[in-house]
Amino acid sequence: MHEIGTSKRPDWSLAVVIGAGGLGTAVARRLGQQHRLLVVDIDKDRADGVAHRLRDEGADAEPVQCDITRPESVQELAEEVGRRGGFAALAHVAGLSPSAADFESIVRVNLTGAALVTRALLPFAAPGAAAILISSLAAHTVTPSAAVEAVLRDPHEAGTASRLKEALDAEQRTSAMAYHLSKYGLLSLCRREAAAWGARGARIVSLSPGLIATPMGAFEFEHSPVKRELYARTPLAREGTMIEIAGVVAFLASDQASFISGTDLLVDGGLAGTLRAD
Ligand SMILES: NC(=O)c1ccc[n+]([C@@H]2O[C@H](COP(=O)([O-])OP(=O)(O)OC[C@H]3O[C@@H](n4cnc5c(N)ncnc54)[C@H](O)[C@@H]3O)[C@@H](O)[C@H]2O)c1
Repeated sequence: MHEIGTSKRPDWSLAVVIGAGGLGTAVARRLGQQHRLLVVDIDKDRADGVAHRLRDEGADAEPVQCDITRPESVQELAEEVGRRGGFAALAHVAGLSPSAADFESIVRVNLTGAALVTRALLPFAAPGAAAILISSLAAHTVTPSAAVEAVLRDPHEAGTASRLKEALDAEQRTSAMAYHLSKYGLLSLCRREAAAWGARGARIVSLSPGLIATPMGAFEFEHSPVKRELYARTPLAREGTMIEIAGVVAFLASDQASFISGTDLLVDGGLAGTLRAD
């Protein structure tokens, strides 16, 4: 069963990590301490590179290329997960930041992508499995209208981004708003899907990081004065680290979190509470 000279762990359950960027790599590294890993990214070289690096460190990691915005590609990923006996943990980390993309791309990747992935992988969730969707503090600082809420209720369709645009006033159709609403949509998705996951004995939760020191986060600091103001107001007076977020993902994926589903966990150094107290 075990292959001599490799780090293969056929006795371990599978963790699927979507997004092999900064935070995705930290999450994969942490989950790889107790799981076989599928490292998934649209960028094949990036997925290959991260899986290779983690294998060098002793993890049982394999890369998979997948574009989470394309249903056929997500279906192929689900079939791959099925061939590997299903999964115990799904960490959905992939996301586009406001300064990196336009309105449509942000909604497509951050929300429609997550909706497609969770729907396609649910049939392969082992009993006790958990899906953890990386949302953001941004989800907690927006109050969508009823028309926007209605669109967010059905985020699987390719047309979600354009329907969302139509539900917004012209001046609201910004990348920043797309980011806020896509992350808000993940919280609603978890609440709505918890019953379906529960029917399989599985859980689905979102995790909302505040300001985290990642390459993506540093890029946002350069392009967003608002982010500097938020930094100044964070009660713990620093950014969080990727290691801290990876630790919370590991907790949410573990049996210690076995009664946590359909909800969101803020990991933001107290920032959202401070903003709400204003
Ligand atoms: N840094 C922060 O302060 C902060 C705060 C809150 C939330 N977040 C969230 O954390 C996550 C950041 O992760 P990161 O640091 O790994 O970001 P990153 O930009 O380093 O990586 C994102 C990865 O997603 C992949 N990706 C993009 N489109 C894809 C697609 N269609 N299909 C598959 N993969 C795709 C990219 O290739 C990239 O590897 C995002 O979801 C972000 O919104 C970050």
